[in-house]
This record gives sequence, C-alpha cells and structure tokens, in this order.
Amino acid sequence: MESTGITVMEHLLIHQKENPLATGNFTRLLSELIFSAKIISREVKKAGLVDILGLTGKVNVQGEEVRKLDDYANRILIYRMQHAGVLCAMASEENADIIEVPDNLPKGDYLLIFDPLDGSSNIDVNVNIGTIFSIRKRTSDRAFVTLEDFLQKGTTQVAAGYFLYGPSTMLIYTTGNGVDGFTLDPSVGEFLLSHPSIKIPEVGKVYSVNESYRAYWDDKVKAVVDYFKSPENERGKPYTSRYIGSLVADFHRNLLYGGIFMYPADKKDPAKPHGKLRLLCEAAPLAFVVEQAGGAATDGFQRIMDIKPEALHQRVPLFIGSKRDVEKATEIMSG
Ligand code: AHG
Ligand code: MN
Ligand code: MN
Repeated sequence: MESTGITVMEHLLIHQKENPLATGNFTRLLSELIFSAKIISREVKKAGLVDILGLTGKVNVQGEEVRKLDDYANRILIYRMQHAGVLCAMASEENADIIEVPDNLPKGDYLLIFDPLDGSSNIDVNVNIGTIFSIRKRTSDRAFVTLEDFLQKGTTQVAAGYFLYGPSTMLIYTTGNGVDGFTLDPSVGEFLLSHPSIKIPEVGKVYSVNESYRAYWDDKVKAVVDYFKSPENERGKPYTSRYIGSLVADFHRNLLYGGIFMYPADKKDPAKPHGKLRLLCEAAPLAFVVEQAGGAATDGFQRIMDIKPEALHQRVPLFIGSKRDVEKATEIMSG
C-alpha cells in the first residue's frame, strides 16, 4: 500500500468536520501519545544493544514479572501524558490504581487507559510488541477523579487504537469514524497514512488461540476451536492457525487478512477464571477498532463494548475479528 504522505495531524484536520474530536485538546493528546510511541519504538529497535532487555525483578499488579521495557514504556507514557495538559487521570495495566495528574500540572477532561507494552514475553526474542490505548472523556463533575470515572462501558470510548513495533512501527486508531493506519517513516520521524479506511473481511481465514490450554477449556470452547479447524465449517476448509503471543500483533494480522483471535476463559489459573486479557486496556480498545472496521468482539456471550467494568483490571474472555467468525463462535458458545 503506497503511503499518501499525509501525516496523522493533517489527516485529523482534513477530517475535522466529521471529527468533533479534532479540537486542540484531542490533537494535543494524540500528538503526545505519538511522541511517546516514537521514544518507545526507538528503545525497542535497539533493545538488544543496550541494557533494556530482561526482567526488573519486580512483579506487577497482574502478578506478572515486569520486564525492563515494560517499565520503561510505562514510565515514558505516564511522564509525558501527565505533562500534556489535557488529561485529568490515567490507568495503566502496570499500575494497581488510577494515576492522577498532579495538582501542580495543567489538567483537562480526558482519561487515558493503556497497556504500555503488550506481548512482553516476546520482547527479548525480537518479536512484534505494541502499545494499546483507550481514550475517554470524564463524565462526572466531581472536584476530583474517582475509579468510577474509569469503570465505564467500551461504548463511552471517544478514541482507541494501538502502536505496533515490528518490521515497521505503525499506528492504527479510530475516533468513531472508521479505522486508519499510519506507518512511521523514520527518515522524517512522522507517521504517514498508509492504510486508509481499514475494513476487516466479513469471513476470515485465520484462527488464533493458544491450543496448549485445551485441557483447561470447557466443551463449548473446544467446539468453537474445532469448528475453525474443521473442513465442514461455513468456509468449507480449515482456517490457518497463527498465534504470535502478542495480542496486538495477532489482532493486527487478522484485522488486515480476516480471521478470529480467541482468548477464552480457562481453568488453568483459579485466580484468572475469565482468561488472561484485561477488559479496559486490551479488549475494549481493540473491540472499538474492530467494530469500526466492520468486525465484532464478544466475551463469547455479549458484546465487549457493552460490558460495564466492575474493577480496573477486570479480565474478560475475548473472541475478536471478522464479523461472521465472531458471530459463529458466539452462536456455539451460547448454544
Ligand atoms: P502483556 O504482555 O501486556 O501482559 O499481554 C500479553 C498477552 C497478549 O499480548 C497475548 O495475546 C497473551 O498475553 C498471550 O498469552 P499466553 O502466553 O497465555 O498465550
Ligand atoms: Mn497486553
Ligand atoms: Mn502489557
């Protein structure tokens, strides 16, 4: 796909009329996110050369070992977004509680939720990783931000997307008017429009799931996965299996090629009965993107975007991708 040479900001301004969001504050928020991603991308690209691989020795609120690049990306995002002057608070996958903007810094009405580095297990082996973000507007008029401001359905998102650090660095995002993809041109340091108006194929050809957990799935989940592996499915032939272990990379491939990504509930860890993925910083933002691209996302029973979170780090089963494939998976799960 030939780049059109249009930068993210030019694209936002060109579409200003259908984008009430293209106010100065939103543009400032997005440009600060982009700057943070450029810094993270720079560190990712040289990760093997400087002491930024490996573990920090810390364990995060998810009970996961924190890798140096997780920590670095998290600190960059928190610092830059706190100084952007457009947020009132944020929430990170790496932090147990919400992160308020200090009173000595300028604030705005936006809330930012993010997974600073998704696919952390792949960092040290040079496989695609990414940053996922969800942007919301504060609804309460209380003097201070509370957890309740964050526990809103995915339908309240005003924008969402992800950066993908791979052979090239990409930004894919939506503000509710379709999905556009931009590729970083390192020679000029700008993200240029490379994938305008992305639409996910109605039916895919790829299924993505960690099949090593089969023994921990219930019969419905097994039936779903067996459907995609069967020559008797609606497509008339088995889907190809692709699983990178970075949600953002698996999602992006299926967004462009068509297909379904599944992280079902399983019984492998009693502490995580709803699977591993987080609703607020992973499932909801990607659900917004995929729906805007013509796809679908459910927890096997209901639309991800309709789920009202009860906790900041709530986990949720995820079936996301081509509309017909997600519908079929949901039919079998609900049957
Ligand atoms: P994170 O690195 O932010 O914790 O996310 C990792 C997630 C997701 O990226 C990926 O799809 C999933 O973990 C892989 O989990 P399994 O190793 O259990 O398959
Ligand atoms: Mn993640
Ligand atoms: Mn992460």
